[in-house]
Amino acid sequence: MEYVRVARSGQVPDGYVRRFFAGELEIAVARLRGKPYATSNYCTHLDCLLSSGKLVDEGIGCSCHGSVFDLETGEPVCPPATEPIRTYPVREEDGEIFVGVTEQDVAEGGPRRRKAGR
Ligand code: FES
Repeated sequence: MEYVRVARSGQVPDGYVRRFFAGELEIAVARLRGKPYATSNYCTHLDCLLSSGKLVDEGIGCSCHGSVFDLETGEPVCPPATEPIRTYPVREEDGEIFVGVTEQDVAEGGPRRRKAGR
């Protein structure tokens, strides 16, 4: 695993979530109570973008049907989602945000939208 720079700290203000890329890997980067978090960007319910969602006290909320995921573990804490989202380790240094990813994540894109019909 290596830490890849994905954003400047100022691009993710407290209480916001935004979408960034590390190679092919799409990541939602959020900041809650001052701490940055990185997760996959697709809700495990029906694939809505979590970067379009909203942060709540318990974690990141999907704007489509209200699922909420814990930002540390990725576990759903509020239905309808039942599967966890992927989470990535984050470091913040010198005003930049780095996300820990594998070469495979960067090359293949990690969790993404399911194909229609599956
Ligand atoms: S797609 Fe996220 S709650 Fe339904």
